[in-house]
Amino acid sequence: MKIVHSLAELRQALAEARRPAFVPTMGNLHEGHLALVRQARPLGDVSVASIFVNRLQFLPHEDFDSYPRTWEADCAKLRATGCDLLFAPREADLYPEPQTFKVQPDPALADLLEGQFRPGFFTGVCTVVMKLFMAVFAGKAEGVAVFGKKDYQQLMVLRRMAQQFALPVEVVAGETCRAADGLALSSRNGYLSESERARAVQLSLALRELGREALAAAHALPQRLDALEAQALEGLQAQGWQADYLTVRRRSDLQRPQGGEPLVVLGAARLGGTRLIDNLEMDS
Ligand code: PAF
Repeated sequence: MKIVHSLAELRQALAEARRPAFVPTMGNLHEGHLALVRQARPLGDVSVASIFVNRLQFLPHEDFDSYPRTWEADCAKLRATGCDLLFAPREADLYPEPQTFKVQPDPALADLLEGQFRPGFFTGVCTVVMKLFMAVFAGKAEGVAVFGKKDYQQLMVLRRMAQQFALPVEVVAGETCRAADGLALSSRNGYLSESERARAVQLSLALRELGREALAAAHALPQRLDALEAQALEGLQAQGWQADYLTVRRRSDLQRPQGGEPLVVLGAARLGGTRLIDNLEMDS
């Protein structure tokens, strides 16, 4: 695996590539990331991963400084997974001057759920992903980028960004990887204490239960939904979580369902000091 840091080195390394297959990450790689790299590899002629902890997508009180940076282990994992090229820009490579031009995502999609609780988050994500796309796909007629469904809203926002800017990049979704007990893999799981880790699956269990109830109430969902969501939220809080949201949405645009549409159940909640997110697509 070749490792490059600057934009110039990246462009040189990709000079012959026709269709790069790209997996952007913030490092601290786990099986979920590696599954995305495995999925990406046959979709292009060169597989590229990036590692960059993007300051722009963290709020001032969030964990930018303490976000786990595990460079050696990440390189070893990517090498073992067969990644061809790792782009690991330094901050000065991606942000040589303060990033005053930003990519502003559609508020109808980006100002709800994560965007409501982490204002500016999706602007930071879109801005860095646009810069990474420009770096990896510059001069290419086509390319593919794989993002995990674990960050469901992020995947939707970035897919829309690529469509609306007519970027020559196919955005592909990767399934969420889960631990044996059902906890969605996430770099932030590493913040959990042993006892918190044992309870962390309660979030996905609460989402599954809420999804089941929503499907069972499908005939009267718009009228029943508030009560079902409030009950799910109370149930999780009673187990010691502080929940931001547990909600049932239409898969197409993350708006509230009117009945009969494919559904996704999404949640974000804090266990001790760790904020976890998860989601489940519900099949009726
Ligand atoms: O999902 C992530 O790890 C990040 O939000 C991303 C897409 C790499 C942008 O920094």
